[in-house]
Amino acid sequence: MTNRHLLGIQGLSPPKITALLDLAENYVLLNRSGKTQRDLLRGRTLINLFFEDSTRTRTSFELAGKRLGADVINMSVSTSSVSKGETLLDTAATLNAMNCDLLVVRHNQSGAPALLAQKVEASVINAGDGTHEHPTQAILDALTIRRNKGRLEGLTIAICGDILHSRVARSNFLLLTMMGNQVRLVGPPTLMPAEVGSLGVTVHHDMREGLRGADIVMALRLQRERMSKGGLVPSAREFFAFYGLDAEKLAYAKPDALVMHPGPMNRGVEIDSAVADHPYRSVIKEQVEMGVAVRMAVLDALARGTLWND
Ligand code: NCD
Repeated sequence: MTNRHLLGIQGLSPPKITALLDLAENYVLLNRSGKTQRDLLRGRTLINLFFEDSTRTRTSFELAGKRLGADVINMSVSTSSVSKGETLLDTAATLNAMNCDLLVVRHNQSGAPALLAQKVEASVINAGDGTHEHPTQAILDALTIRRNKGRLEGLTIAICGDILHSRVARSNFLLLTMMGNQVRLVGPPTLMPAEVGSLGVTVHHDMREGLRGADIVMALRLQRERMSKGGLVPSAREFFAFYGLDAEKLAYAKPDALVMHPGPMNRGVEIDSAVADHPYRSVIKEQVEMGVAVRMAVLDALARGTLWND
C-alpha cells in the first residue's frame, strides 16, 4: 500500500480524473452484475472516521471497502466531544498503532484530513472537511454527468444555493473547470464566498439568468449548521421563492438539462419534490449509485498506487 492520500481535487489532473472515471465505470458494471472483487483489499483495514453526520458517504465507503474485500470499521465521533487539534492527533496515534491501511475522514474543520495525513501511515481520503473539499463527491458527480451527457467538457453547469458553506460546490467547480466546462455559481450575495471573482467561474444572483441555457443544474442544501452568523437567509419560504429549484425556474435551462443534488435534500427549501423526483431530468438516485463505484475506484487506485504514479 502506498502512503499517498486523496485530500482534494486540487492536486489531481485531467488525465488522472479521466482514469478514475474509467476505472469507476468498470465498478458500475461489476456492481450491477452483483459480483464482488474480494481479493484486491483482502487483509487490508479501512477505518471510516466520521466526526460529522453522514448517510450516503459513510455507507458507500463501507460498501466499497467490503466489496473489495477490506475489513471495514466505522468510528463515529460526536463533534461536541472533540477538542480539535489535540484530540485529532491522539486519534491519529491510536489509529497508527492499529496498523490501519486506509483512513476515510470527515471532519467539521477544514484541513483536518490533511493534518491527519501528516501523522498516520495510512492513506487518508477526505470524505468532507468543513467548507473546504469533498473530492469523492465531485468525482461521482463527474461520472454521473459523463454517463448522461456522453462527455465531461464544453458543458454549462449551474451550481445553485448555499455556495459559501459547500465543500461539494468547491470540489465540483475545481473539477469541472479543470475539465473544460463553464461553471456558474448561483445564489444570494450572502451565500457567495468572498474570493469568488478569482475562481474561474461566473456569479449570478438571479436563478433565471444563472440557469439560462444550462446543461446541468445542481442544487445544494442550505447548510444551517454552518451559519454561525444570523441573517444570511431570511426564511426557508423566501429562500425557496428566490432560489428553490422548481419547474418554472428549471424551464430556463436546456430542455434536456439534468437535475442533481448531493443529498441530503431539504424538499421545499432548495428543491421542489416534483423536480427532485422527475423521472427523466433528475439523476439524484444515480449519483448515489455512482458514489459506491467511484469510492471503489479511489480505494483501488490508492491500493495499487496508480492514483499518483503512472
Ligand atoms: C454533503 C456534505 O456532507 O458535504 N453531502 C454529501 O456528502 N452527500 C452536502 C451536505 O451536507 O449538504
